[in-house]
Amino acid sequence: KKVVLAYSGGLDTSVIAKWITETYNCEVVTFTADLGQGEEVEPARAKAQALGIKEIYIDDLREEFVRDFVFPMFRANAIYEGEYLLGTSIARPLISKRLIEIANETGADAIAHGATGKGNDQVRFELGAYALKPGVQVIAPWREWDLTSRESLMAYCDQHGIEVEKKKGKKSPYSMDANLLHISYEGDILEDPWSEPEEDMWLWSVSPENAPDVATYLEIEYVKGDIVALNGEKMSPATVLEYLNKVGGENGIGRVDIVENRYVGMKARGCYETPGGTIMMRAHRAIESITLDREVAHLKDSLMPKYAELIYNGYWWSPERRMLQSMIDESQEFVNGTVKVKLYKGNVSVVGRKSDDTLFDESIATFEDDGGSYDQKDAEGFIKLNSLRLRLAALKGRSPLDR
Ligand code: ARG
Ligand code: SIN
Repeated sequence: KKVVLAYSGGLDTSVIAKWITETYNCEVVTFTADLGQGEEVEPARAKAQALGIKEIYIDDLREEFVRDFVFPMFRANAIYEGEYLLGTSIARPLISKRLIEIANETGADAIAHGATGKGNDQVRFELGAYALKPGVQVIAPWREWDLTSRESLMAYCDQHGIEVEKKKGKKSPYSMDANLLHISYEGDILEDPWSEPEEDMWLWSVSPENAPDVATYLEIEYVKGDIVALNGEKMSPATVLEYLNKVGGENGIGRVDIVENRYVGMKARGCYETPGGTIMMRAHRAIESITLDREVAHLKDSLMPKYAELIYNGYWWSPERRMLQSMIDESQEFVNGTVKVKLYKGNVSVVGRKSDDTLFDESIATFEDDGGSYDQKDAEGFIKLNSLRLRLAALKGRSPLDR
């Protein structure tokens, strides 16, 4: 028996590696991914070796993450419950995919993860794993063991010779998850929805109050709904997001503090920093505003909440997500051009947009003389017929004034 474990190199997943080896009397393969979390992944190798792990996978997945997961999601302008840009949700399907690929390569029949039994992440990891390898066995130690307190976890480390790093400085008390799209904070004082997070919790952005007094301008170039260049410079997907995170963070952009509905049923308070994603969302809507047909834009918008919910709930590897994705991708054929944004003290303002594929026609939209391309007399019949059913209802005694 062999198990592939999603291994961060941290204390929890180290205990998990040991615990699985003993409890299931099997071999553990570790998999550590660089998704742009801003922490070195290479140290995970030595830590896994110290635990007696023989097969160790360490992958740089940054480009794949942004190109095949983040960008496709942003084509849809996906946002959960009006606020959450799905930073953690969109990384899970990629981790599931790698876990299964590695299981197939190493001949493992099980996967394991360090998500708790109370959250969304377990659902996302496991729905993905089952979709990609139907007969796979899943081991989720947090749902199985009795190491439920910090003390019992430490005692376990003591007994099993797992080295506990004493980090210098203050250790953050929050449950956090980071990748190129965002960093999240949950737990500790945030469990009271009324208590405001302290300024030193936020790691990626300055507060709007402390942001520079001079605005930063940025030109964002799109091809088929994806960003290909910033300020005229061609960049790879991961490089784009890295750059946007940097300038966004410097300008206090992308902080949210919300209570969200988890798929498992509870409400949970979370704080997120998504500086680059927040800029991408505004800029993408702006380029779509001149390049998309109205009905295509509205239809796409009406399906967006469903698409976002599907990703939040863990159904990336589902037929309905594929179906929606092909529709969204199809809509992006003419979403080409450049958007100019201004970043200032927490705000992203769109100040310009242009495209060779624009549908905007100045000669028609103008308040000045349009030279006859739009006949204002046509509007009379347009309104008359559209009001027909309203007039009929009022004539038949259903006037809104009488009801
Ligand atoms: N609540 C967010 C979500 O469900 C963030 C989860 C963060 N995960 C974590 N392991 N800290 O997507
Ligand atoms: C967890 O419970 O592992 C993190 C929170 C979540 O998955 O929603």
